[in-house]
Formats: sequence, C-alpha cells, structure tokens
Amino acid sequence: MQPTVQVLDKKFELYLSETEIQDQIKKIAIAINKDYVGRRPLFIAILNGSFMFASDLFKQLTIDAELCFIKLASYKGMTSSGQVLTAIGLDVDLFEKDIIIIEDIVDTGKTLNEFIPKLIHQQPASLKIAALLNKPDALEFPIPVDYLGFSIPNKFVVGYGLDYDGLGRNFKEIYQLV
Ligand code: IMP
Ligand code: MG
Repeated sequence: MQPTVQVLDKKFELYLSETEIQDQIKKIAIAINKDYVGRRPLFIAILNGSFMFASDLFKQLTIDAELCFIKLASYKGMTSSGQVLTAIGLDVDLFEKDIIIIEDIVDTGKTLNEFIPKLIHQQPASLKIAALLNKPDALEFPIPVDYLGFSIPNKFVVGYGLDYDGLGRNFKEIYQLV
C-alpha cells in the first residue's frame, strides 16, 4: 500500500484502505443477506467500474442470488438531451424480480437517472441500489442509494475498479486527487 500514486499526469493520495473498503462491503452484505432472506435477488452490476465491488460483495452473500453484468453506452439520438442511453447485455427478464443495481460510484446521478426508468419499464417486484461511493455535493438527480459504502467529498478518485483515463482500476485501495 503506497501513500501516493501517480496515474498519467496526476498525483493521488491514499483515501480508503483495502481494510476499510472490505469492512464496509461486509456490512453491506450483512444488510442484504438480512433484507433478502428467502428471496432470490438479481444483481445488475454496471461495467466497467463496479467489477471489483460486485465480486467482493457477491462473495459475502449467503442468500440465493443471481448476477449479471451490463455496460451502458450513450449514442446520439432524437431526444431532448440529444443522447440515448442503451444497456448492453441486459438480456434477463426483470418482470417480478427483486433487482439490486451495483454501481461503483454515484456522482451526478445522471447515469442511474436515465437507466432506472428502463428497468422499471419491465415491472420488477422491487429495485434497490448498492453503490460503494457517492458524492452528495455533486448530485444533480434524485438517486436514493439503499446500500452505501462511503459518502465522499466532491473530488476525483481512482482505484478499486475506478479509473482515470483507463488506468488505476487495479489498485486495492481508493486514492483521491491531490
Ligand atoms: P454519474 O452519472 O455522474 O453519477 O457518473 C457515474 C459514473 O461516472 C460512475 O459510474 C463512474 O464510472 C464515473 N465517475 C464518477 N466520479 C468518478 C470518480 O471520481 N472517479 C472515477 N470515475 C468516476
Ligand atoms: Mg461506473
């Protein structure tokens, strides 16, 4: 574990240690194991950033649970915002299922604000959000995170799945821009 890391042109300092992250994930798993006992939720993890969080969280589950990974892509379309969000790999029927979205970080909330209506459209039985991080000061859309790891300041972070220009995802810790 290094106190600072250099990623491309930027310097980052240690913000959350591996132990702090793993302890928090265990707490989230305990809550989910309790809330979903006797049910069989489908976790939908959003690539790329959430792959480590999804893996470590899933290992801590004792309930029956399904997992799928999707990728969200925006393309230019004929909407007021000019962008259309499409979910690649979402090939499971969500009707009457208990859904838990797994996100690395909720920043402005724009991504989930666009994605959630597409899920609701399929009439799941329930829909909750598990996010490792959120940045309350950056939030622009009303996204309630049901299972949260850490609320962090509005500063750019890398590590534990999160990248800066494609790099830094491999760190076991989370580093904050200096
Ligand atoms: P939102 O739509 O603004 O909530 O952005 C969500 C996505 O932006 C996350 O899933 C991340 O992939 C990315 N993101 C937001 N903040 C950070 C950060 O501090 N570091 C790395 N990626 C981030
Ligand atoms: Mg992401």
